[in-house]
Amino acid sequence: MSNPRHIAIIMDGNGRWAKARGLPRTAGHKAGVDALREVIRAAGKMDIPFLTLFAFSSENWSRPRSEVTDLMGLLKLFIRRDLADLHRENVRVRIIGERQDLAKDIRGLLDEAETLTVRNTGLTLVIAFNYGSRNEITRAVQRLVADVASGVITHEDITPEAISVRLDTADIPDPDLIIRTSGEMRLSNFLLWQAAYSEFMFLPCYWPDFRPSHLAEAIETFHMRERRFGGVAAQEIAL
Ligand code: FPP
Repeated sequence: MSNPRHIAIIMDGNGRWAKARGLPRTAGHKAGVDALREVIRAAGKMDIPFLTLFAFSSENWSRPRSEVTDLMGLLKLFIRRDLADLHRENVRVRIIGERQDLAKDIRGLLDEAETLTVRNTGLTLVIAFNYGSRNEITRAVQRLVADVASGVITHEDITPEAISVRLDTADIPDPDLIIRTSGEMRLSNFLLWQAAYSEFMFLPCYWPDFRPSHLAEAIETFHMRERRFGGVAAQEIAL
């Protein structure tokens, strides 16, 4: 089986990593950014075309205000410090999620990251920020209804493809592999539509402990899984 084209990661366990060390939760998020930086570089070297990282969910607003501020601060710092390097490394940055609710300076940085790297041809790094799948699908349905109302399409044109192309991930292939760290086994409103045929891997380690070697192991396990997409295995057809 060929390498996964698209790996998506739910980076979970920063808080518990910090707690286990008697550190504030912010320290866990900071260590999480260090892990994220390494994994982006590794994915590029492993020739993975698309890597999606779930950095802030639409439900994360319910965290204490100071933690939300810290997470916003880390995103800003990450773009300010790392964007030039990512650009030099031919990484294309894409952002998915609802941008309207974000502060103007953050929206500006997200736009800058996408614009600067739009012509890059290496790894596409998709950052899911203020992302929630139900919100994304709702926005797609709103667009679909508007297109029917204005006569751009008719109700007969409403197909799975018509929905897919109105999602934030319109021109991004569905994830072949979704990894979640920290032992939790949930999707938590992440890529619900796109995950229809994804392979799932739930790793016990907390996100700050995730290393490129974990990514390499996950890819190896992926190769051993058989994906049938609702059909039957090739060897069963031959029998
Ligand atoms: C989950 O840990 C992690 C997140 C809330 C998102 C991941 C965030 C980062 C890696 C840092 C931010 C990076 C950027 C560039 C924005 P948790 O706090 O839910 O951990 P817990 O379940 O152990 O409490």
